[in-house]
Amino acid sequence: MTIGVFDSGLGGLTVVSAMMKHLRGVEIYYVADTQNTPYGEKSKEQILDFSVSITDYLIQNHHIDALVVACNTATSAAIKELRLLFPYLVIVGTEPGLKPAFAHTQTRKIGILATPATLGGKKYKHLIGTLSLEYDVEYFEQACSGLVAQIEKGDTDTPQTIAMLEDWLAPMREANVDTIVLGCTHYPLISKAIERVMSHPVALVQTADAISKRVLHLLEEKGHINRGCNRIHIAATGVIESAMVEQILGEKIEIEQVVI
Ligand code: DGL
Repeated sequence: MTIGVFDSGLGGLTVVSAMMKHLRGVEIYYVADTQNTPYGEKSKEQILDFSVSITDYLIQNHHIDALVVACNTATSAAIKELRLLFPYLVIVGTEPGLKPAFAHTQTRKIGILATPATLGGKKYKHLIGTLSLEYDVEYFEQACSGLVAQIEKGDTDTPQTIAMLEDWLAPMREANVDTIVLGCTHYPLISKAIERVMSHPVALVQTADAISKRVLHLLEEKGHINRGCNRIHIAATGVIESAMVEQILGEKIEIEQVVI
């Protein structure tokens, strides 16, 4: 099976890394749309446009059987339209792990970190509305403008990134939040910095494993036999930190520059 995966940059590689653990015998074509990063600070229309163009590119050039939208922001802005436009593709999106966080917290206080576009999207508002009726949990939302740009530069632990986190996480630390939703696929890349700034034990909720299991299940329904070697190809539409790619995937991979 051939799987197309995309994100605005490096973040979706955290999902690819989990996919490599769960899937066998697949060929992955990853697009890092670094020309247009960060998605989270763009309009729904722009994000939808990027998402449709990348999906078209993956279908035309790589004949993908499945698409993984490895980006919470693009999922929120475009998944409905992608499913309507490409009904024959298996499409799996990425959503903040709100439910596991509401169910996990012992202090009844959770933090939610995501991009401005994700937190402002209808999908998120609907889910948080439903869960807050169901659970007696206080939640602290934080839109992290500028954080994706820091991570894209490889600044995962620089004083500037730590200062941003100090500011955003202080209310969560003071309120004794014990669970934080990483509602952007870039944020697992700064897990250590988040844990350090929180200074008390905190569970970080990410969904890469759940997405990978879902992909496997849907592919098996289509006849996929989960055996053999995986192959991965990476393309970027702009500048990308190749050292970060290597660090995330644990191997050196040639990066192709593409115009989409
Ligand atoms: N990794 C994307 C997400 O999960 C980042 C969005 C951005 O480029 O701002 O939301």
